[in-house]
Amino acid sequence: MLKANLKIKYPVNIIVGPGSIGELSEILTVINPYKIAVIMDEIVERLWFRELEKAIESTGVEYQKIVLPVGEECKKLKVAIEIWGTLLDNGFTRDSLLIGLGGGAVLDVTGFTASTYMRGCHLVYIPTTLLSQVDAAIGGKNSINFEGKNIIGTFYHPEYVVVDPQILQTLPFETFRSGLSEVVKHAIIQGEESFKFIEDNVEEILSRNINVLTEIIKQSILTKLNIIISDYTEKGRRILLNFGHTIAHSLEKALDFKISHGHAVSIGLVVESKLAELITDFPSEDVERIRDLLMKLDLPVEPLLPIETLVKYMKYDKKFLRGRPRLPLPKRIGEFEIISMKWERLLKCISELKI
Ligand SMILES: NC(=O)c1ccc[n+]([C@@H]2O[C@H](COP(=O)([O-])OP(=O)(O)OC[C@H]3O[C@@H](n4cnc5c(N)ncnc54)[C@H](O)[C@@H]3O)[C@@H](O)[C@H]2O)c1
Repeated sequence: MLKANLKIKYPVNIIVGPGSIGELSEILTVINPYKIAVIMDEIVERLWFRELEKAIESTGVEYQKIVLPVGEECKKLKVAIEIWGTLLDNGFTRDSLLIGLGGGAVLDVTGFTASTYMRGCHLVYIPTTLLSQVDAAIGGKNSINFEGKNIIGTFYHPEYVVVDPQILQTLPFETFRSGLSEVVKHAIIQGEESFKFIEDNVEEILSRNINVLTEIIKQSILTKLNIIISDYTEKGRRILLNFGHTIAHSLEKALDFKISHGHAVSIGLVVESKLAELITDFPSEDVERIRDLLMKLDLPVEPLLPIETLVKYMKYDKKFLRGRPRLPLPKRIGEFEIISMKWERLLKCISELKI
């Protein structure tokens, strides 16, 4: 197991490790902002703001707390408008800093408002859920919901992402395990060593052993980063990150988002692995390993709805090119093919699935 904490600089500085939140004072000294706004929801404010407060106060910079409603409620245009208004009323200029402290929802609205306020001001992310540490904080995408989910957004990188696995100790189990399906997805993309590490450490992961958590978070972030760096414009390899998501998005739409994204991805990973068994000769033993691992991590693996119902919603997938389905499917753990096929062929394969 790697012992050192991780520090990566690509255009973004990513600092991973227990206690990394303690590096905030140094980061603030480097950025040297005119003013600071910490954007968070009321739950995270209560649990974690105090950890930041000292570092911020030590800089002597004027700061503001902006407390948002919890969950998807904060990803609304009216919330972004309120944030812009608060910044303007308090004399924030583009040399000011917004710190997003929270899960993916808070980071998304913070990134969106930071990128648009006066054409962009300083931005730091401190992700506080597993999903946001391995996924939402990495890659520079942000969005708010408008009519549908994630419809309006920008690409805008924070200058620093501070990932402290200790923050996950206060996460409700349900939210914690929801992030695990993205971790498993990244391991399937990365390869045998990463996947086996999770298989061998299920108990430690579920009990949130800090060393094991740090290791899987590091591996997960590195996998996502490697893909993003090799495909900055989203034309090629980045589609691998969509593994499991074609089915997951259909399921979320079919159930009107009454299923968590993490649970939908878990089911998507199983169904799309089965599809890979038919299309890319993905070994059936590996399908079983994926299914078993997700079950051990207490994640759902049954489709919940008839496959034919899911297929109806698949047609609207953003990743389809000119209406033609494109799917990243594993040939083996760590090796993928991007399959583009006629809609009729995909339907036939899906109807043959035995789940
Ligand atoms: N921009 C991207 O690339 C990207 C990628 C993936 C997901 N997302 C977005 O992320 C959002 C989902 O994020 P999420 O799963 O982190 O959920 P979330 O942001 O909705 O947070 C879930 C809950 O956890 C609570 N919470 C957060 N940190 C906590 C902590 N340390 N202790 C206790 N409670 C805590 C929050 O208050 C909230 O109630 C979605 O809106 C999704 O669209 C964005």
